Amino acid sequence: MKISLMLNGTKIEREIAPDLLLIDFVREEGCYSVKRGCETSGCGLCTVFLDEKPVLSCSVLAARADGHAVTTLEGLQKEAEEFGAFIADQGAEQCGFCNPGMIMNAIALFRENPDPTEEEMKEYLAGNLCRCSGYEGQLRGMKAFLEYKKQGGAV
Ligand code: FES
Ligand code: FES
Repeated sequence: MKISLMLNGTKIEREIAPDLLLIDFVREEGCYSVKRGCETSGCGLCTVFLDEKPVLSCSVLAARADGHAVTTLEGLQKEAEEFGAFIADQGAEQCGFCNPGMIMNAIALFRENPDPTEEEMKEYLAGNLCRCSGYEGQLRGMKAFLEYKKQGGAV
């Protein structure tokens, strides 16, 4: 079957197998930030935006993205770099494997709710597993980033 979609702002038309997963589609298109962890919707590593909403690309068929816009971390470089610096500052990044998924979901949260409480942050990121840390560094990084935005830091 043929699908047509926008991937990080670029139109892509391609023949695909009907059972191709979105994670495999975007990786075949060079978006290697999208990682394969559990493949059972449990770790958040494969998060992409489908029309601005975070979805787990290991659980979505590429065919579902037909006619829609898909964004990966490669398409969010500016936001990701700005926020990622706050995570790095807190020493939260250890092996870094969970980082792209975590950053995608944090950006989605900030877009949806620019002033989340700690509970809301924890709830939103509950689907992102990190094997190296206790999530404290990531939370501190998120709070520091939000404080910076309140002080007028530009996106
Ligand atoms: S690989 Fe998709 S949620 Fe873990
Ligand atoms: S820093 Fe290693 S999995 Fe999160």
